[in-house]
Amino acid sequence: MPFEHQVDGLNERSYIITAALPYAYDDLHLGHIASTHLPPDILYRYLKLKGARATQVCASDDFGTPILIAAEKEGKDPRDYVGRWNTRFKEDLERLGIVYDIFDRTSSAENVEMVQSFFTRLRENGHISESEIGQFYCEYDKKFLPDRYVRGKCPYCSAEDQYSDGCENCGRTLQPGQILDPRCSICGRPPVMKTSSHYFFRLSTFSKRLEEWLNGNEGLQADAKNYVLNWIRDGLQDWDITRDIPWGVPIPLKEAEGKVLYGWFDNHLCYITAALKAAGKRGDAGVEFWNGSAIYHFIGKDIVYHHYLFLPGMRLGDGRYKLPDYIPTRGHLLLNGRKISRSRRWMITVRDFLEVFPPDYLRFYLARIVPFSQADANFDLKEFGEKINNELVASIGNFAYRALSFVSSRHSGVVPEPGVVGTQEEAMKSELGLAVAETGQLIESGHFDRAIKRVLDFSGRCNQYFQHKAPWENTTEEPTSIFYSCNLAAGLATMLSPFLPFSSQALWHQLGFDGPLEEKGWDGASTLRVEPGQRVTEPKPLFKRVEADDLAKVNVNLG
Ligand code: 2FM
Ligand code: ZN
Repeated sequence: MPFEHQVDGLNERSYIITAALPYAYDDLHLGHIASTHLPPDILYRYLKLKGARATQVCASDDFGTPILIAAEKEGKDPRDYVGRWNTRFKEDLERLGIVYDIFDRTSSAENVEMVQSFFTRLRENGHISESEIGQFYCEYDKKFLPDRYVRGKCPYCSAEDQYSDGCENCGRTLQPGQILDPRCSICGRPPVMKTSSHYFFRLSTFSKRLEEWLNGNEGLQADAKNYVLNWIRDGLQDWDITRDIPWGVPIPLKEAEGKVLYGWFDNHLCYITAALKAAGKRGDAGVEFWNGSAIYHFIGKDIVYHHYLFLPGMRLGDGRYKLPDYIPTRGHLLLNGRKISRSRRWMITVRDFLEVFPPDYLRFYLARIVPFSQADANFDLKEFGEKINNELVASIGNFAYRALSFVSSRHSGVVPEPGVVGTQEEAMKSELGLAVAETGQLIESGHFDRAIKRVLDFSGRCNQYFQHKAPWENTTEEPTSIFYSCNLAAGLATMLSPFLPFSSQALWHQLGFDGPLEEKGWDGASTLRVEPGQRVTEPKPLFKRVEADDLAKVNVNLG
């Protein structure tokens, strides 16, 4: 199992969990949530229930050429522009129940300080080289034109109107100067080549140490590790970490005035910055906090190179902050079988989705379909509706509602005293214990899809129990079965809580508990926590069926 810190001593450890940072130029869509934001939130909520010290952070990824261009297009100062996205991200995530201890920004003063300290130390340690390179320059705009500031024809497949850093048609990355028939994307004129002095991070010199780290780290996924090791064997390139643009972390050297660091130099350092900020630690105390924690970076598979090579390379070169223990990497999310694409607008934003459906529906379906692997998952709207109706509504919601309705209608809202406890009750109690233990193990091993399935299976057993006891026949066993059903529902509420924070809390409240469910912890879920005499609140169905009309509303926003 990739996650080794299991059960024993879990609550004595500190955990730092990060989610890949979204670029501050477009809304979050379902793909972001599937691989990057929901999985860490499930782990984080679970760890909290187990009483562990867990810190979860994220930030908006503010710097870089595409963002500067987007801000310029809107005639906005880039600082204001990214600030607006930062706020939107926080709103969307909060509505989804994904709450970070800190949702920082890579452009925060603390991060700029962290990034500059990294640059300085890397340079002092001999890991930064300098050389003159040719760069496109627009004499009309008086600007160097990195990456997306130049468009032209792809030298490989001849596709027109491609960015100078890569071709969307054939998927190849391009080096500066390779693009044919280059044009400045601001004024359309052909740029000239000029030399500029650039700094490089000497990633190639870390090949051996990275290889050792990858081979020695049991916590990394084998499939990702294998192809990263192949990249190392093929030879690593040093990274140009300089950009001649006015939007980025200034390179802290007199002779580098006007130059900033590349976005991938600064963004992942915000994991550290934000975690230290959240814990209120600075300097040595911050280093100690980081190094004494288990570190998880949740990502999607498109940024494996950056997280398995560039990020650890930089940390090795700096020497202060330890490398990640886990980099849980998940595949892409397809939408109705097709690749999500911003440019073709084949995507559903979190905002649009939450206009139609409650947040727990999205959390449930994504948790259910996204495996802990690099395989792609498919968000199929029709299947989404079916899963909500057949599993959430018909199994979990139905069981809880039926049990609570009996308390309400037959026992004036007060949980009855159980009578003689039969073998079925004993059996359900041990099944509850088993479900709590196994669901916990599946979460600890990163398999959240299997964990939610385990809870569903248990909910199926609860329904069978209820059906079998047939309390509507009003036998002498009725109070016992209602008492047990309420307790099974309470166990379900806790097990569901990392996945469905809103509905589990609603169920908890219906069962007559005051205060947040989290306060009662995970382990107690296997015991009978609902007391005879406990007053429940008016039962309400936890979930509503998804109808074709609802799906049609989301469809309208697609494409
Ligand atoms: O690929 C992306 O969307 C990047 N914004 C992810 C950054 S994650 C990190 F390392 F900062
Ligand atoms: Zn120009």
